[in-house]
This record gives sequence, C-alpha cells and structure tokens, in this order.
Amino acid sequence: MIILGVESSCDETAAAVIEMVDGDDPGAAKVLANVVVSQLAEHAQYGGVVPELASRSHIRHIGSVLTEAFQKAALEPKNLDGVAVTQGPGLVGGLLVGLAVAKGIALAAHVPLVGVHHMEGHLLSPFLAGTAATPLDFPFVALLVSGGHTILLHVRGLQNYVFLGQTRDDAVGEAFDKGARLLGLGYPGGPAIEQAARGGDRHRIAFPRILLDKKKFDFSFSGLKTALKIHIQPHRGGQTPGQTLADVAASYQEAIVDTLALKAIAACRHVGCQRLLVAGGVGANQRLRERLAELGKEDIMLHFPPLSLCTDNAAMIALAGWVHLKEPSTLPPWETLDARARWPIIDLCS
Ligand code: KG4
Ligand code: ZN
Repeated sequence: MIILGVESSCDETAAAVIEMVDGDDPGAAKVLANVVVSQLAEHAQYGGVVPELASRSHIRHIGSVLTEAFQKAALEPKNLDGVAVTQGPGLVGGLLVGLAVAKGIALAAHVPLVGVHHMEGHLLSPFLAGTAATPLDFPFVALLVSGGHTILLHVRGLQNYVFLGQTRDDAVGEAFDKGARLLGLGYPGGPAIEQAARGGDRHRIAFPRILLDKKKFDFSFSGLKTALKIHIQPHRGGQTPGQTLADVAASYQEAIVDTLALKAIAACRHVGCQRLLVAGGVGANQRLRERLAELGKEDIMLHFPPLSLCTDNAAMIALAGWVHLKEPSTLPPWETLDARARWPIIDLCS
C-alpha cells in the first residue's frame, strides 16, 4: 500500500510518501520520501506563529513540496493507493490548504482519502524510525509535548488509546515560548531557554509545580508563566541581585521538566506500563530526558523518536492515515472532510 501524507496544520508545509509492506505492522513502514519546509524564519521576528502568514506560506510552498516528494519517491499520483491529510487540530487557513490539495490529488488518482488527527500522527511517529532506533511495541504510555499540546495517553494498540490527561491551559511548548519572551530570549523559546539555562542553578528559584499533588494526570502551565512574570518584574531581564539569567532560566525549565517527568512516570506506574514514548518538539529538551531517566531508572524504558520524526512531518500523517485506509469501509464520507481547528484528542480515545 503506497500512501501520500500531507501536513499543513501549523508552520511546516510537508508531504511524504510511505509504503506499507505488512498488512498490520506499523513498524514495517518504508519512508520513500519525507519533505518538510519550515516557516520558522518567517515567524521568528514576531515571536510566534502568525496564522495569516502561515496560510500564505503554505499556499506558496505546497506545490513544490509535493513535487519534490513524488520525485524523491520516484512515483506519480496514479501509483498511490490512498491519501492522508491532517484534518486538525491546527490553524484553519493552513488546514484548508492541505485539505484542498489532498482532495484534488485523491480525486485525480481515484484513490480513497482520509483526514487524520495531527496528534495520532505524533503518536505513531516512532514506528517510522525503522532500524534507526530501538523498536517500540504496544502497549506504551505516550507523552506528547509540543507548542500546542501536552497530552498523556495509554496506547494499547492501533486505534486503542486510553486518555490519561492533558493540559488545562497553556501547552508546555507555550510555557517555554512565553517564558522565553518574558526573559527577552529568542523564538522558539524551548531551545532558547535550554541554552540560557546552561551553567545556571536549577534549584535557585522555587517556581511552582502545579497540580502535582493531585492523583490525576492533567497539567497546568499558565500559573508558572505568571510566577516567572512576577519574579522578574522589578528586575527587568531576570537580573535579580544574586541571580543570573542562567539561574532563572534553569529554575524555570526545571519546574516544567519536573512536572512533566513526575506525571509521566507516575502515569506509567498507574497503568502498569513500562514503556514511555516522548514525542513532539519539547521532547528534544535534554534536561527533560535526563529527569525522566532519573525518575524511571528502576522500571521505565524511555523511547524518543529521532528529531526529524519528532517535529511536524507528513510521514507520520501518512502512517496514521494507513491505520484508517486499510479498513476502507470505515472511512467517513468526503463531505465531512472539513478543517477541524479544534479536535479534542479524547474523541480518539476509549
Ligand atoms: O512539535 P513542535 O515542533 O511543533 C508543534 O507545536 O506542533 O513543537 C514546537 C515547540 C515549541 O514550543 C518549542 O519552543 C518547543 O517545541 N521546543 C523545545 C525544545 N525544542 C523545541 N522545548 C524545550 N526544549 C527544547 N530543546
Ligand atoms: Zn505537531
């Protein structure tokens, strides 16, 4: 089965072609092409993604990204067995670009089309790593951490997801991005804070770890951002006497990382699962990886997909699409294939 994936939900325009060589094994995917054009530089000067600019950038790049994907895979649309496109959640303008193009290709190639939940793509992304990483098997707990999401799921199998928790306000990536803006650091904020935190004392400031006392797996990060704002208010740029910017950044990062790691490891133990997948941009954070390893060293095996699969791409969308395309009778009619800016992950869970 050869599947085209299209992704345009945020600030990456992406197309990929994958070949599924086994009817049931997501790990048997061959990535024939995986093309991503990032808009990071276009948004950096504004300190965040500007939706209008993002939509316009998608419409400019989608054609060349698709052409390159077909060229790299040495295939044409008529060779496809199906098309998968991110239907949501995300920025509506971007989603519409991807959906319109995907519909056009599926119509012309006479193949089925499926709209995919962006986070189902992230969830299955480790299976695309092939021999590049240690294999991951079901069941596992997934910690999905990006600029728009903070989600914990128990993944028992394909389409067998149990919801454990999610953020009640800001996503963890947002906590990094907004924190970096308050500290006068660059965008994206995650890598900027990680860099600024080097050599800092992570125990210097006791920023709050919110919701940690609750026996639930929800997160909240907006209070932490406010705590940072209050902390630095009288001392612009985090230059409190006796504290360096590195101390502030390290302490802020530690509060985020601690919250994520404590909850994720507790969630694994709660459901009796010894494998933890961490996916999404924040998964690149080295301190998060260290803290998870410290807390889970007795019993939890950690799994991080390679960075190219961790951040937004269309190969993961094609793989999530395959899960549905291989059962064509379950595909929803085309009329329902409209952009879903909001699409709670809970809709996919049992
Ligand atoms: O998954 P992603 O690339 O894009 C989506 O949001 O879909 O995640 C981007 C987020 C940004 O908020 C960025 O600041 C954060 O991931 N991020 C990091 C690191 N690298 C990227 N956060 C913490 N540490 C990092 N090294
Ligand atoms: Zn994403």
